[in-house]
Amino acid sequence: MKFLVTGGAGFIGSAVVRYLLGETPHAVVNVDVLTYAGNLASLDQVANDSRYAFEHVDICDADALVRVFAEHQPDAVMHLAAESHVDRSIHGPAAFLQTNLIGTGVLLEAARQYWETLPVERQVAFRFHHVSTDEVYGDLEGPDGLFTEQTPYAPSSPYSASKAGSDHLVRAWQRTFGLPTLITNCSNNYGPYHFPEKLIPLIILNARAGKPLPVYGDGQQVRDWLYVEDHARALVRVLEAGRVGETYNIGGHNEYTNLAVVEAICELLEELAPQHPKGVAHYRDLITFVKDRPGHDLRYAIDAGKIERELGWHPEETFESGLRKTVQWYLDNDAWVEGVTSGAYREWTDQQYGA
Ligand code: NAD
Ligand code: DAU
Repeated sequence: MKFLVTGGAGFIGSAVVRYLLGETPHAVVNVDVLTYAGNLASLDQVANDSRYAFEHVDICDADALVRVFAEHQPDAVMHLAAESHVDRSIHGPAAFLQTNLIGTGVLLEAARQYWETLPVERQVAFRFHHVSTDEVYGDLEGPDGLFTEQTPYAPSSPYSASKAGSDHLVRAWQRTFGLPTLITNCSNNYGPYHFPEKLIPLIILNARAGKPLPVYGDGQQVRDWLYVEDHARALVRVLEAGRVGETYNIGGHNEYTNLAVVEAICELLEELAPQHPKGVAHYRDLITFVKDRPGHDLRYAIDAGKIERELGWHPEETFESGLRKTVQWYLDNDAWVEGVTSGAYREWTDQQYGA
C-alpha cells in the first residue's frame, strides 16, 4: 500500500514513517509544511528509501492537495498534521483553528474527490485514518474512571476543542459521503524526537543545562504515557485491520502525576549523566513549581480494551523501559537537539516561562 502521511516530519508522524519504511513493505508520501515542530532530520534514516517521497505542502492548500493525490495515487491517508501544543493554543488559538479544523476539512474534501475517482475495488479498500487525542474527552475526576470510546466529548483547551471539531468533521464525511474513515484517540506520547516544548523532553534538556524544571501548579495532574513507537505500531494496525467508521482508544496503562514523571527523569539522569551542571548538587533540586496552566485538565486515563481485544495490539514498553530509552536518546543526540532549539524555540520558552 502507499500511505499518504500528513505531519510526517513531526514527533509521532516521523515515528510512523520510520516504522512503515523500516518494518513494513508499504510506501510513504509525507505531506508536511514544516512548522516549527516539523523537522526533516527526524527522518534522516529513511530519507533515501526509494519508497519514500516528501511533499512540502500545507494541508490548508486545496489545490496543492489535489495535485498530491493525483500524482501519488495513495491507498490510504494517515492524518497527523496538527498544531499540537496546549500551551501555545492558549497564547494563540488562531493557528489551531486554521490547521486542525480548516486543514482537516480541506484534506477530507481533497481525499473524497480523489476517492470518488477510484475504481470500486480501490474505493472499498481505501482508508482515511484521523489521528486524534484523548484530550477531546476533557478530564477525569478522581483516581478510577477511564476514557472509553463512548465517553462524551468535553474539550477544555483551544487545542483539544479544535481536535474535537476535527473528529466531528471526519465522522460527518464518513456518514454523509461514505468515505471509509477510522479515528484513533491516544494518550500522551513520549520518546525520541519529541519537540522540547512538551513536558518530558523539556525537563531532560533543562536538567542537563542546569535550568529550573517547571512544574505547573502542584504537579498532581495525571497523564497516561505511551511510548511513541508503540503508538506508531497501533496506528498501522488500526489502519490495516480496524473496522470502518469506528473509533479506537490507544493508551499505555501508565498513569503518573507530573511530579512523579519529573522526579523519575531526575533519578535517571543521576545514573546516566552523573556529571552535574555547574552549581547543581542533585537534578531534583532544580524542580520549580510555577503558575498553573489555565483550564488545566486534572487526569487522563485510557481504556484501551477495544484495540487490545479486536486488533490484538498491546504496548511493548513499560514506562520504566521507555523513559530510560528516552533519556538516553536525548543524551546521545545533541545534534538533533541543537537543530530544534533555535532562536524561535528560545523566544517560546522566554514567553512561557519568563526569560
Ligand atoms: P507535532 O507538533 O510534533 O508535529 C506536527 C507536524 O504537523 C509537524 O511536522 C508540522 O510541521 C506538521 N504541520 C502542522 N501544521 C501543518 C499544516 N498546516 N500542513 C501540513 N503540515 C503541518 O505533533 P505530534 O505530537 O507528532 O502529534 C501528531 C498528531 O497526533 C496530532 O494530530 C496530535 O493532535 C495527535 N496526538 C498527539 C499526542 C502526543 O502526545 N504528542 C497524543 C495523541 C494524539
Ligand atoms: O493527551 C494527549 C496530548 O498529550 C496530546 O494531544 C498533545 O498533543 C500533547 O502535547 C500532550 O498534551 P499535554 O498538555 O498533556 O502535554 P504536555 O507535555 O504539554 O504536558 C504534560 C503535563 O505536564 C500537563 O499536565 C502539563 C504539565 N507541564 C507541561 C509543561 C510543558 C508542566 O507541569 N510543566 C511544563 O513546563
